[in-house]
Amino acid sequence: MKCQVKEGHLAQGATDVLVISGYEDENTLPKAHQALDDALGGQLRELRSNGEFSGKNQESALIHTRKTLPAKRILWLGLGKKKDVTLDRVRQAMGTAFKKVRQTGAETFSAPVFATDTVKAPASDIAQAMVEGAMLGGYRFTHYRSENEEPSKEIRTMTLLANRANQVSGMKTGVRRGEASAHATSFARDLCNHPANVMTPSRVAQEAQSIAEDFGITLTVLESKDQEKLGMGGMLGVARGSQEPPKFIVLEYAGGRKKDRPVVLVGKTITFDSGGISLKPSENMEQMKADMTGGAEVLGAVRAAAQLRLRVNVVGILPATENMPGGRATKPGDILRMLNGKTVEVQNTDAEGRLVLADGLAYAARFNPQCIVDVATLTGACIVALGQFAIGMLGNDDALKADLKKAGEQAGERVWEMPLWEEYFEQLKSDVADMRNIGGRGGGMITAGMFLSKFVDDCPWVHLDIASTDWSSSERPYISKGPTAIGTRLLVQWLINRSG
Ligand code: BES
Ligand code: ZN
Ligand code: ZN
Repeated sequence: MKCQVKEGHLAQGATDVLVISGYEDENTLPKAHQALDDALGGQLRELRSNGEFSGKNQESALIHTRKTLPAKRILWLGLGKKKDVTLDRVRQAMGTAFKKVRQTGAETFSAPVFATDTVKAPASDIAQAMVEGAMLGGYRFTHYRSENEEPSKEIRTMTLLANRANQVSGMKTGVRRGEASAHATSFARDLCNHPANVMTPSRVAQEAQSIAEDFGITLTVLESKDQEKLGMGGMLGVARGSQEPPKFIVLEYAGGRKKDRPVVLVGKTITFDSGGISLKPSENMEQMKADMTGGAEVLGAVRAAAQLRLRVNVVGILPATENMPGGRATKPGDILRMLNGKTVEVQNTDAEGRLVLADGLAYAARFNPQCIVDVATLTGACIVALGQFAIGMLGNDDALKADLKKAGEQAGERVWEMPLWEEYFEQLKSDVADMRNIGGRGGGMITAGMFLSKFVDDCPWVHLDIASTDWSSSERPYISKGPTAIGTRLLVQWLINRSG
């Protein structure tokens, strides 16, 4: 779908569907809608007075204009009470709008910038959110369907209408950002939707290669013999039980000045987590094909940074392997030596994410980075603590945490901080090695973060546990059922903010 910005009035411009918004606590039609209502012989007012459209959040009404206007139809969408309207509500409204527009068989639709009077954000940010909502609301994964169940036409063009000429250029920037971050998210969702027999570590490396080729990004893939030479005991220890060769993938996007130290993103990339010898129960195990969400998000974010030509140097690191219970698999009690020399007693092979991340983080620290951010579907404890709607955040640097919190709010992918106090390391003490890989009952998300902190030296670092948000049990306005890739837009927004 092409997204464009045009200056124009609602009652002008030909389009298949014109999407407009309304509030619940709005007694009279806003000025901008009066011309439409006049052309429609008062239909908008009638829908309001009949109570057929009351403006409640997510409520909608479809009106055929029958040649009284250049737009063939009007889709009226509720945003709820004025005081409750946020950027994310606008995103959700556009997600729902896109689905409804597609149902009509339309090929084009247009919309003014919503909620400029209630959302405290510039038109560029609202335009960005509208593009994200529409593109992600339309996401579907049909790759393995033999017959197309929904042969609906694809929407070709979305037009955002500026009501003032001086809004156009800001809105265009917003649209470009929205396109890049939504594309990064759909790309990440695709990677997680593909089954683990297709999306192997080798295939992830191929995906990284095509991004590198398309955008002129430097790619290095460390094979298992390279990992051995370097001493990546975490990677190799997890990969031992699998027939698939592990890949340690490094992308370097140089958008900043040569002398600028990079920011490093590290994403857990377990293409299937069976638990290993500490085998998981079979119920819902198929969802563990998405245990590579962190890596998929990092790939998406690096791609978006390159597409937007952001002025930052970004390194993306994906430690990619399966976690399988093969005959040579790591066993409980085995001791591994990680890239930074620290030893780990593996007491549970299902706590594998922190093992590959230990090497990923230690490798990241070698870039002398400004900061490191890792994203990982790390712990079931994160789901227990936060449910479905917050990402767990732990880290050693207040300014970095504040930046990620802000980006999360802008993106509608909010984080919630957990404490990272040294006391928690008690739970990770081992009788035979520097530490063990599980922390016992209580504070599972925290002890996992504590474990990771031992591999970043003094570098400013934040860990995002996305186990809570990575899989949606239901379809939401712009979040598909199954893999959500929540966290991608947060990373992209954070990079945009840093690029200035
Ligand atoms: N990939 C899982 C965490 C997970 C669980 C993500 C459910 C998404 C949904 C991780 O590797 C894992 O198995 N963690 C264990 C750690 C435990 C053994 C200390 C867990 O949380 O149960
Ligand atoms: Zn696991
Ligand atoms: Zn895992």
